[in-house]
Amino acid sequence: MLNQSTHHRLRHFCPSNGKHACRQPIRWHYYLPMALQFGLTPNTAPASEEQLANILADPGFCDYYTDHMALATWKDGEGWFDDGIVPFAPFQLHPAAAVLHYGQEIFEGMKAYRWADDSIWLFRPEENAKRFNQSARRMMLPQIPTADFMTAVERLVATDSRWVPQGAGEQTLYIRPIMFASEAYLGVRAAKVCTFCVIAAPAAMYFSKDGVKPVDIWITDEYARAGIGGTGSAKCGGNYAASLIAQYEGYEQDCAQVLFIEASNKDRVEEFGGMNLFVLKDGKLLTPALTGTILDGITRRSIIQVAADLGIPTAECRITPDDLYSFVQDGSITEAFSCGTAAVITPVNAFKTKQAQYQLAQPLGAVTMAIRERLVGIQFGHVEDTHSWMQRVV
Ligand code: PLP
Ligand code: COI
Repeated sequence: MLNQSTHHRLRHFCPSNGKHACRQPIRWHYYLPMALQFGLTPNTAPASEEQLANILADPGFCDYYTDHMALATWKDGEGWFDDGIVPFAPFQLHPAAAVLHYGQEIFEGMKAYRWADDSIWLFRPEENAKRFNQSARRMMLPQIPTADFMTAVERLVATDSRWVPQGAGEQTLYIRPIMFASEAYLGVRAAKVCTFCVIAAPAAMYFSKDGVKPVDIWITDEYARAGIGGTGSAKCGGNYAASLIAQYEGYEQDCAQVLFIEASNKDRVEEFGGMNLFVLKDGKLLTPALTGTILDGITRRSIIQVAADLGIPTAECRITPDDLYSFVQDGSITEAFSCGTAAVITPVNAFKTKQAQYQLAQPLGAVTMAIRERLVGIQFGHVEDTHSWMQRVV
């Protein structure tokens, strides 16, 4: 029997005032203090060396998945159990599983990098663990201790290390931790059974496999991605589903991504469907402030630090759509880029709206490329990692 005194107890706190969220249903999460082991059940039919070589020759962006995945189950009152690195396989999910009905789900995106000496590294993985738990709290999913999250990711990468590309063309192993409500129950409440899983897939560059290419951006004035008090700052699937209609509007205009504007007052640009935004105005790097409606990107945060290291001034601020348009037009905004784990740093060529097109003066600008070179250099071990961001796995 589980004894409450031998278990950590986690309680939900109101994010705005730090006090117990008394108007929300209280959920106590119990989990064993013993660390999860994620022991290995080997895949008896892994990809052959020949199959793997063909995959790594042209992996696309996550077109193929590795031989294994990490898996664990959580039950209310019992905590996490049944953890393991197991053969990669589809889930068997009850048609009444809550995630299929109410979207109670979160995910993360991270990468493993192979260095020239064949060692394999993760970039700031604990930041992903931290954000995963922040997203879990917002979506009423259970917490997973950072140490357990890390064990799952590290053991999966170590087990499937032969799947980590050599690094040419910035190829990496993309890692996707997820957690979802797997309980079969149609009443609307937080699920009492949840699944944690980590999958991984070799990945070439997100937008183009032929190197860094500036992309056009569609700015939607019709659709919003998130609102104040909503889930914009959580990494949950619903945000991405909500972005698709605008994304497809953008595709019709030959745009690779969509940039969202704040929903209520429409007085600030926020972020792309799956990336954060930076613009260079009069030599200063500006990015939309974290207002609770956008994702606190780990790449975004790292870029602010890298810019400081390079002596480039930065500011987190409000950027109105009108300012964006007029400053691109009058030439004071010379460069702009999207950033994220998948996108790395992808320069913007032009912003497009229903009314007009705003062409950047320097799409492959010197500042964008200098920051990019330094960040990617740290990730692949070519540039000194002065902030201890990289963690070795193999
Ligand atoms: N914003 C959104 C909506 C995203 O999906 C992502 C990607 O993860 C980012 C920003 C960038 O976050 P990060 O740099 O942590 O990958
Ligand atoms: C990531 O960058 O990891 C994301 O989750 C964004 C998505 C567009 C792939």
